[in-house]
Amino acid sequence: MEKKINNVMDKLVSLCKRRGFIYQSSEIYGGINSCWDYGPLGVEMKKNIKDFWWRSMVYERNDIEGLDASILMHPMIWKASGHVDGFTDPLVDCKKCKNRFKATDIKGDKCPMCGGELTESRQFNLMFKTFMGPVEDEASIVYLRPETAQGIYVNFLNVLNSSRRKIPFGIAQIGKAFRNEITPGNFIFRTREFEQMEMQYFVKPGTDEEWLEKWKQERMEWYIKLGLKKEKLIFHKHSKDELAHYAKDAYDVQYEFPFGFQELEGIHNRTDFDLSRHQQFSGKIINYFEESTKERYIPYIIETSAGCDRTLLTCLVNAYDEEEERVVLRLSPVIAPIKVAVFPLVNRDGMPEIAKKVYEDLRKKIKAFFDDSGSIGRRYRRQDEAGTPFALTIDGETPENNTVTLRERDSMKQIRISMDKIDEVLKEKISL
Ligand code: GAP
Repeated sequence: MEKKINNVMDKLVSLCKRRGFIYQSSEIYGGINSCWDYGPLGVEMKKNIKDFWWRSMVYERNDIEGLDASILMHPMIWKASGHVDGFTDPLVDCKKCKNRFKATDIKGDKCPMCGGELTESRQFNLMFKTFMGPVEDEASIVYLRPETAQGIYVNFLNVLNSSRRKIPFGIAQIGKAFRNEITPGNFIFRTREFEQMEMQYFVKPGTDEEWLEKWKQERMEWYIKLGLKKEKLIFHKHSKDELAHYAKDAYDVQYEFPFGFQELEGIHNRTDFDLSRHQQFSGKIINYFEESTKERYIPYIIETSAGCDRTLLTCLVNAYDEEEERVVLRLSPVIAPIKVAVFPLVNRDGMPEIAKKVYEDLRKKIKAFFDDSGSIGRRYRRQDEAGTPFALTIDGETPENNTVTLRERDSMKQIRISMDKIDEVLKEKISL
């Protein structure tokens, strides 16, 4: 079983490097643990995932505003949020082999690597610290944010007043977060630098449970629309001892990875914890006045917190397939890095010129790719592995009747379509 798990993940890591999705960071210097760089295909795919999320949150709905807050924020924010005192993991060291572990990952009391004796566990804060300005003293300590959420809470009044929204409404943000994880791993699943896609929805107290339920359904549907297999997705309800310090109720959306069911997204009922704490620590009144009922209250917050890198990994795992003669990434067209490849069947009889022209027209509208090297079979295989859903081939018939072959990645079916219908057909299939 262990071998099979490693196999799928190892194959994916190797495909990602080979095709330009993801590379080990700082590779020429021997690499740096848990840091990864997105290559030409990876960056397109990541952008597509973020756009898909942003579209569903900010454009398709009419009750959410966007925000892009600073990564470095006032250090008091992390005191108020509870992160300075409570964002810790229990850490143990092996006295013999010196390896470090998260105490909760250890079964029994011996080192899982060498059987050596372990130290008592001590709390380790996961926030990265740095200094603002030239002096490195206590007063200049700032933190790299461990979640994007706090940037939204401290801007609640700004967004409320400038957008003139009424409760219920939400604020969405995509951005980097940093955690000094004790045990990063499983490729980009758990890293120390990652990107979150978070939405904080402000509601009237008393309606919070209903909204939590609505958001659970919304978010599950989003993952299904993204192309994830329904049967691999579940909700995991947090038990009392799993709940974060700010949460009254929480659910994870989990996906069945080769290494077991794991969290993709957290959906939390954060109550009025965050806004109350910021009110207390900043001394500024943070509340909402409801015109219709003349009530003043601190809104409750329902949070949906997804990991962008983790979603990307999930899409890759979900899409990876091996057939006898090919490896294929069955990515949904909406997130596939390249939407269409254009090939001349052979490099003569006017075919390359027509193919170039088709490509030049397409590449201004969608991410297209031109390839005229190697056998047509090899070119199809390369695109299958990159997850490209469609290929257009210009062949001997094209100059005669203005038609091209459209080949579909998953079924490998080929149909002939008229050149002047290319845009229309692709638009329908890619639903751009
Ligand atoms: N604001 C709430 C919050 O941050 P979380 O459950 O700690 O909640 C939310 O994180 C999501 O962020 C996770 O479901 C995961 O997708 C992503 N995430 C968290 N830590 C991560 C890490 N070390 N590496 C990659 N993604 C991570």
